Amino acid sequence: MRKNILLSVVLLALVALHWAIPSDRSQRTVRFFPDMADSQAYESQAPTATTSDYGDLDLRPPAGSIARGFSPFPYDASPEDALRAGLELNNPLSADDPSVASRGATVFATFCAVCHGLAGAGDGTVTPKGVPPPPSLHAQHALDLADGQIFHIITHGQKNMASYAAQVDRTDRWRLVSYIRELQTAETTRLEREKAAAEAAARQSSEPASDDQPASEVLS
Ligand code: HEC
Repeated sequence: MRKNILLSVVLLALVALHWAIPSDRSQRTVRFFPDMADSQAYESQAPTATTSDYGDLDLRPPAGSIARGFSPFPYDASPEDALRAGLELNNPLSADDPSVASRGATVFATFCAVCHGLAGAGDGTVTPKGVPPPPSLHAQHALDLADGQIFHIITHGQKNMASYAAQVDRTDRWRLVSYIRELQTAETTRLEREKAAAEAAARQSSEPASDDQPASEVLS
């Protein structure tokens, strides 16, 4: 009896398999849980019940959404927005980190020096060839620019200078700001030293030579 039941089960299994495995291999086999294997095909521009807000399947991100990894820069390419960037943005990089200015120097030499000159004096190699020379980055106007304003100028450009946002990424733009500050400090220090030396020389030449001075004055 047991044997008969076993044989019937085997027989049934064989019949089921025979039914489930098609002889035509190009046809699908029977699927028991198709779930979402057969999704309903929509036309990409056609409205659907779930996307009626948008009208079609071509979904746009909701207003104000920001792509992952993207940081917005909510300033237009206008002088007003340059001023606003100057008031609102601070350089996120530390001035004490030497790698900031050293990378800044490399980027400056690559993208900026052709016009601005390696030291930022506005005497880049293209300027004698007809490209309007930029103002010196050591002029009072540039010294007075806020960090955020310089960042805005590099990002959006200014008059004859194009935007460098495509060539120089955001962090490198801040490194450029740090490097420009370093150039400016070096130049200001150099000018102050020169002035002090010139003043000292002028003082010395207007004073009588120490040899002529009475001994009492030299000692006092
Ligand atoms: C094609 C030449 C050119 C290149 C390359 C260039 N600039 Fe300029 N830059 C200019 C000119 C011209 C101006 C003056 C624009 C104006 O009239 O306001 C300027 C202005 C500036 C100013 C404002 C100076 C001020 O006193 O208003 C800064 C800061 C500056 N550039 C930084 C940079 C940096 C950083 C780079 C490299 C990423 C760079 N520039 C690349 C031509 C250039």
